[in-house]
Formats: sequence, structure tokens, C-alpha cells
Amino acid sequence: MAQEGLIKKRRTIENHILAIGGGKGGTGKSLITACLGICLADRGSEVLLIDADLGTANLHTFFGLEPPQIGLSDFITRRKSSIDSIIIKTGINNLKLIPGAQDMIGMANLSYGQKIRTLNNIKKLNYRHILIDLGPGTSFNTLDFFLISHCGILITSPEPTSIENTYHFMKSLFLRHLRKTITQKALKSLIDKGVGQGDGEKFDSVFDLLEAIEKIDPKLGDNIACHLSTLDIKLIVNQARTDRDRAIGQKMAIAARKYFGIPIDFLGTVSYDTKVRKDLLQRKPIEAYFPHSEVFKELAEITQKISPSYQLGLDFSVD
Ligand SMILES: Nc1ncnc2c1ncn2[C@@H]1O[C@H](COP(=O)(O)OP(=O)(O)OP(=O)(O)O)[C@@H](O)[C@H]1O
Ligand SMILES: [Mg+2]
Repeated sequence: MAQEGLIKKRRTIENHILAIGGGKGGTGKSLITACLGICLADRGSEVLLIDADLGTANLHTFFGLEPPQIGLSDFITRRKSSIDSIIIKTGINNLKLIPGAQDMIGMANLSYGQKIRTLNNIKKLNYRHILIDLGPGTSFNTLDFFLISHCGILITSPEPTSIENTYHFMKSLFLRHLRKTITQKALKSLIDKGVGQGDGEKFDSVFDLLEAIEKIDPKLGDNIACHLSTLDIKLIVNQARTDRDRAIGQKMAIAARKYFGIPIDFLGTVSYDTKVRKDLLQRKPIEAYFPHSEVFKELAEITQKISPSYQLGLDFSVD
């Protein structure tokens, strides 16, 4: 029964799967995935990066690699039967890459079967850390990649639109989570009303929705609240330029707990570095300036805070 599986027990994790997402485009998800990968590999772990931005896959460019001939889309469409056969070298010790799709297969177009097979095969890969770089947006597929991970890292920039998109991502994640755990029809119709302001049909907040669920099934309401408190969701504010920017992360973590009931672990702030931007525009591989850039120093510190703890979401069996 789905409810019984809601409270996850601490378990020994052989590989640690981290998904990097956050809704808004251009906030630095791919740059941070690449840099965290380098920092983790530098500490001696075997690390695999997966470019799951199937719309505009570009993680390879951060390593100065030409568009690869093979990628995740080949596995998804069964042109390649083994996921190991689409893993390529990055040129950095201990760090490998599954490039994204070269034939623009849309994340939204993934069938249920393709998704299950891909996610299950990722789970079986034998790497200490697996970092999944997600594209922008809140499609079900993006949310599901986030939810099967042991840890999800949200990347926001300090701009109001990016902060707003990150909150929207959190809310979508929460609703997707509920849809995947709750099987009762009466409760599903409550979730389908949605959460948001300014529409009489919707619940004003996540707490209001939880309250309505609790009224129908108090035990389930309790279980959901309990499970939410074990989610491992982290936040990084990237491209900070001012002290005000540096204060945003902590405030967002507090607001997320207050309005969504989701505990967010604020990992830290990463500065905006014009040299990083310039070098990447010239397609220089990022390790060229490792470890001198402030961005890397900050991410090296953040790396120390990333450790396996709870599984973020559910076993991938309900759609
Ligand atoms: N801290 C930073 N300092 C300077 N430039 C940065 C920083 N973070 C990201 N950038 C630049 O911002 C641009 C977007 O970064 P990136 O591609 O990593 O974003 P993204 O969130 O993955 O975008 P998308 O949603 O399109 O996948 C890149 O040119 C990158 O070099
Ligand atoms: Mg990207």
C-alpha cells in the first residue's frame, strides 16, 4: 500500500544520486553540475554526470567536448541497449559523463515505459555520486527525475523571476509527490484542484490542501507531513553580486518551510564571476581555471556539505 511506504527509513546508499534543477532557465544548473562533479571527483570518488536536459543538452561543452555521437536519447529510444555503452570520458580523473540527446527528444515526450526503464537503470549504476543535470521547467519528467534522486539541489539566481520559478518548482514537486503516493480517488480529486492564489477553486496553500486530506484520512495526512520532513532538498543561490543577494538563500529556506512545509537545506551562495562567463563563451573547459576561480572555491566548500542521507522520493512505480 502506498501509504505504508511513505516514511522512508535511513538506508545504506551505495550510489548517491543528486538531481540539479529549479525551474528557471539559465540560472547555472549545468555549470554547477559540472563544477560539483569536478569537486567530488577531486576528492577521490567515482562520479558520473548525466545530462538529462533533453531539450538543449549542453553539459559536454563545459568540458570542451564536441557534441557527442551518443547520448541518453540513444538509450531511451533503445538504439543502445546498455546504459554503460553511452558513458563517455570527460578528460578528468574519476569523472564520466552521459551526454544528453543530440536529436532533441523532448522530455515531455518520454513515455511512461521509457521513463521507468531509464530511471531504473540509472539507479543501478555503480558510481559513488551520480549528478543529474535537469533542464528548465516543471514537466512531469523533470519532476520525476528530481523525485527518484536521493537528494535534489535547487539552483536559483537572485532575480525575482528566478526566485518565483523556484517556489513554483517546489510547489509542483509537492503536488507531483502527492499524486504519486495517493491512490484514493476522493483524495486525488482534491490534489487536482491545485494550490495557488486568486482562484476560488484552488487551495490557498499546501497546508490547506494537507488539512483537507487529513479531514478525509487523518492517518494519511500524518504520514504525508512526516514524509515531507524527511525530504532531502537543498538550495544554492548562484550568480550573487551583492550582500543582498547573499541573504536570499536563508530567507528562501525559511519561507519554503513556512509556506510549503518542505524543509530546505540552504547549502550556500556562489558568486557571479565574469571570467567564468567569458571563458565558457569561448568554450574553454571549466577545469582550466580550477581551482583558482571563486566559483570553484565556493562550490568546493558546498561539496563538503553534500552527504548521503535520506532518499528524496518514492520508488518509481506509480504514475
Ligand atoms: N556563477 C556564475 N558566474 C558567471 N557566469 C555564470 C555563473 N553561473 C552561470 N553562469 C553563466 O550563465 C550561463 C547559463 O549557465 P548554465 O548553462 O549553467 O545555466 P542552466 O541553468 O543550466 O541553463 P538551462 O536552464 O538553459 O539549462 C552560462 O553562460 C554560464 O557560464
Ligand atoms: Mg543547463
